[in-house]
Amino acid sequence: MSIFLRFLTLSFALGFAFAQDFGVPSSWRKPSTSRSYNERVSIARKAIDAMVPQMDPSSAQFNGLSLWQSGNVFGSMASFDYITGSHVYKDIVMKGLKTMHNRFRPDDWEWWATSAFYAYKAYGDSTHLSYAISTWQYVSEYVISPKDAASGSHSRKSFSLATTCDGKTMAGGVFWQTLPDSPVVNSITTGEYMTLSALLAEATGNSTYTKAAILTAQWIENHNINLENLVLDTIDSYTCTKGQPNNMMLTYNSGKYLEGLSVLTDVTGNNFWRSLYVFQP
Ligand SMILES: *[C@@H]1O[C@H](CO)[C@@H](O)[C@H](O)[C@H]1NC(C)=O
Repeated sequence: MSIFLRFLTLSFALGFAFAQDFGVPSSWRKPSTSRSYNERVSIARKAIDAMVPQMDPSSAQFNGLSLWQSGNVFGSMASFDYITGSHVYKDIVMKGLKTMHNRFRPDDWEWWATSAFYAYKAYGDSTHLSYAISTWQYVSEYVISPKDAASGSHSRKSFSLATTCDGKTMAGGVFWQTLPDSPVVNSITTGEYMTLSALLAEATGNSTYTKAAILTAQWIENHNINLENLVLDTIDSYTCTKGQPNNMMLTYNSGKYLEGLSVLTDVTGNNFWRSLYVFQP
């Protein structure tokens, strides 16, 4: 991922939910910016406008970007419109999401579903909410429930699951792939599901989503955070082996988790979740 995309993904992953607190905690390393609001809006607009001509309208994909990154561009456009109260990108976002929505499946598609949610927020069209929910329901079949973890089996998987890893239940992990023999649970698959659940809970008040957000947030907290509080990548649910692709830390793992924690704090009113991303000195 380029530096620019990493920045884009992280900054938009920090989220824009309805009643979420966007104040930057003063205990963060660099809590302020010297750039004015207008300057920031202008930078964001120029970046998005540089990408627009790269889109192939028939596939809703962007030249040079992978599938999940293309999905994020629509989320960035919708978030831009939401924040600035405009409809600059409404047409292109609605067409792009419509082109792809029948294919929103894990794991790249969780990004598309989240972009559909941002579009719902920006434009208030319930079609986009239904796109996000339909992907959420599909991905839900790949979440390890407390019952699956206790029994060591999962209806979509052909191997026996480790009931615990490092002495902690694997409940709340979300499988990276739908293949029956693929045991990999990813923080990003789980973090996206957690965040989408929290966003849906906030928008609908349906407690099914709140419970799902809490269960999956607990998995990340229990299993996949290092001593510097950065979110690691992968756990094999058969062997409990942890992994980082090419030994790299991927910023989106932490960015998505931060977004989800922020929304979850708002949804539950429980400051425990806030304490995971705002450390008290
Ligand atoms: C809550 O969400 C779940 C999952 O999408 C859905 O099955 C259920 O019908 C919803 N409940 C209500 C009352 O809308």
